[in-house]
Amino acid sequence: MMSRWKAKHDKEHYYKLAKKQNYRSRASYKLKQLDKKYKLLKPDYNVVDLGAAPGGWSQVVAEIIGEEGKGQIISVDLEYIKPIDHEAYTGVKGDFTTPEIQEMIMEIIDGKADVILSDASPKLTGIKDIDNFRAYDLAMAVITISNNILKNNGNLIMKAFQGEAYQDLIKTLKQQFKTVKTTKPNSSRKRSAEMYVIARGFKGSNKN
Ligand SMILES: C[S@@+](CC[C@H](N)C(=O)[O-])C[C@H]1O[C@@H](n2cnc3c(N)ncnc32)[C@H](O)[C@@H]1O
Repeated sequence: MMSRWKAKHDKEHYYKLAKKQNYRSRASYKLKQLDKKYKLLKPDYNVVDLGAAPGGWSQVVAEIIGEEGKGQIISVDLEYIKPIDHEAYTGVKGDFTTPEIQEMIMEIIDGKADVILSDASPKLTGIKDIDNFRAYDLAMAVITISNNILKNNGNLIMKAFQGEAYQDLIKTLKQQFKTVKTTKPNSSRKRSAEMYVIARGFKGSNKN
């Protein structure tokens, strides 16, 4: 098992690297590592980033879109996200579990998304049942949004917590996507319950 010292060292390493490379959060490296391994993002993709503040993942997506790409990035969070300086970027402040914000995302995306990202974490109370319920609620909202706006064959990359409902979540995703893998990037703390689910090849909903 990884020592506390090593975990702290890794956390500091990515924190310093993010500062040096002008990323808003250490989390940027999680997406970079996931993208390197699974080839998830392309310059012409329309991407929705759920639970995006302070914007580290969205910065990585904007970088990949670059100057030539025709992609779009819509970033949603309860917190204000300092706008990313890229014409492909749109920020939405609000709760993505609500129908109002889900409708707003659909309007902005103007078509369908190629990729949905979710690094959303619930506010933890320390009370196991409540925390499990909140994590489940967030995961279900991410799945609802995917069903509504993901293109056929689109990809979903989401953070999930290994709690009671985790296996159910994986089972649901396996019904909806061609392949589902779970992974933990090096920059994710080994001791945390978080996992990243890479669901590729959306089989489509009735709306497609
Ligand atoms: C770990 S942070 C995301 C970090 C981000 N990926 C980055 O690279 O900067 C998790 C975020 O999820 C957001 N969040 C949690 N529940 C949410 C909800 N229901 N609607 C919108 N955002 C939510 C939190 O406000 C928090 O900013």
